[in-house]
Amino acid sequence: MRVLVTGGAGFIGSAIVTELSERGHDVVVLDTSALPGAIDGTGALRCVGDVRDPDAVRNALTGVDAVCHQAAMVGLGKDFADAPAYVSSNDVGTAVLLAAMAECGVRDLVLAGSMVVYGEGRYECPAHGVVRPGPRAAADLEAGRFEPRCPCCGGELSPGLVGEDAPLDPRNVYATTKLAQEHLGAAWARATGGRGVALRYHNVYGPGMPRDTPYAGVASFFRSSLARGEAPRVYEDGAQRRDFVHVTDVARANAVALEAVRGRAAGAVTAFNVGSGDVRTVGEMAQVLASTCDGPAPVVTGEFRLGDVRHVTADSARLRGELGWAAEVGFVEGMAAFGAVAV
Ligand SMILES: NC(=O)c1ccc[n+]([C@@H]2O[C@H](COP(=O)([O-])OP(=O)(O)OC[C@H]3O[C@@H](n4cnc5c(N)ncnc54)[C@H](O)[C@@H]3O)[C@@H](O)[C@H]2O)c1
Ligand SMILES: [Zn+2]
Repeated sequence: MRVLVTGGAGFIGSAIVTELSERGHDVVVLDTSALPGAIDGTGALRCVGDVRDPDAVRNALTGVDAVCHQAAMVGLGKDFADAPAYVSSNDVGTAVLLAAMAECGVRDLVLAGSMVVYGEGRYECPAHGVVRPGPRAAADLEAGRFEPRCPCCGGELSPGLVGEDAPLDPRNVYATTKLAQEHLGAAWARATGGRGVALRYHNVYGPGMPRDTPYAGVASFFRSSLARGEAPRVYEDGAQRRDFVHVTDVARANAVALEAVRGRAAGAVTAFNVGSGDVRTVGEMAQVLASTCDGPAPVVTGEFRLGDVRHVTADSARLRGELGWAAEVGFVEGMAAFGAVAV
């Protein structure tokens, strides 16, 4: 199969290119980045261009059977002034790509989604069942009250695994653009008889992870601190729960989705969580990295960022059941390897 991977020069995209090439697929990459990188040597055909440019997209789609759409502006941005840039890259870009796919008759799509579409994770109150706490108040966070409370009784909640049918609650511009990508995909599928899979990645880490940018993931920040001989600084009390999933597992999820998408029902895009299923805390992650790097123990600062989600962890049963995928890289093993690489 010939696959176009948009954003194929990036962290996750380049791992997908490697995985697809190893499975014997022909790969075309469309990315604004012309930097030599991990995909050199994979045999992928590289087109330097923007997904918002219809000519570049049409050109890259020549002879293509399926599209794996990873290109996006990621992270939280600096402030709200970044909103037009996010919407342009992520949503205008997706619309231009889908319009060109419609024109060229390409019907199969795998889309990089994100857990950010859920907002907070899943919580249960012993008295009120599954509830949806709103964003946490600054006064609570300042007082060290980090756990969201039941919106009905103010009682303690127990966090659980979020499934794909959970209510959607994108809480920032980036999250909004990731959800809009899925809706655009669904509109395209209905209009053209296309078939799609949206893979909602949880916290992806591993080799090639961007570092020292405002968009870098927390594992990358911790590793950079340790490389400077400094302790990782952990926000809140370190008990924030996350699902850390290794980039090679995410790349394999994309490959199995691309290989299966043709057999799926026409006219729909189905969402799948992509998580390891192994619930860990940010504090635990900092500890594993610190010990791997022989660095100073993490410092739990009690600082917080308004808008951070307290707990969000994936239920990836749908991906296991329908596509036969399971994460293979364990947390300790994957983090230790990640921490051991010199930065
Ligand atoms: N890293 C994570 O933990 C995570 C989690 C959830 C979802 N995602 C999604 O995964 C995808 C890949 O993210 P990543 O972490 O590899 O980021 P990345 O920044 O490493 O990769 C994105 C790539 O897209 C390219 N790109 C950006 N805008 C483009 C445009 N308009 N036209 C062409 N190329 C463009 C960039 O040059 C870059 O190579 C994104 O869609 C992101 O939203 C990432
Ligand atoms: Zn309650």
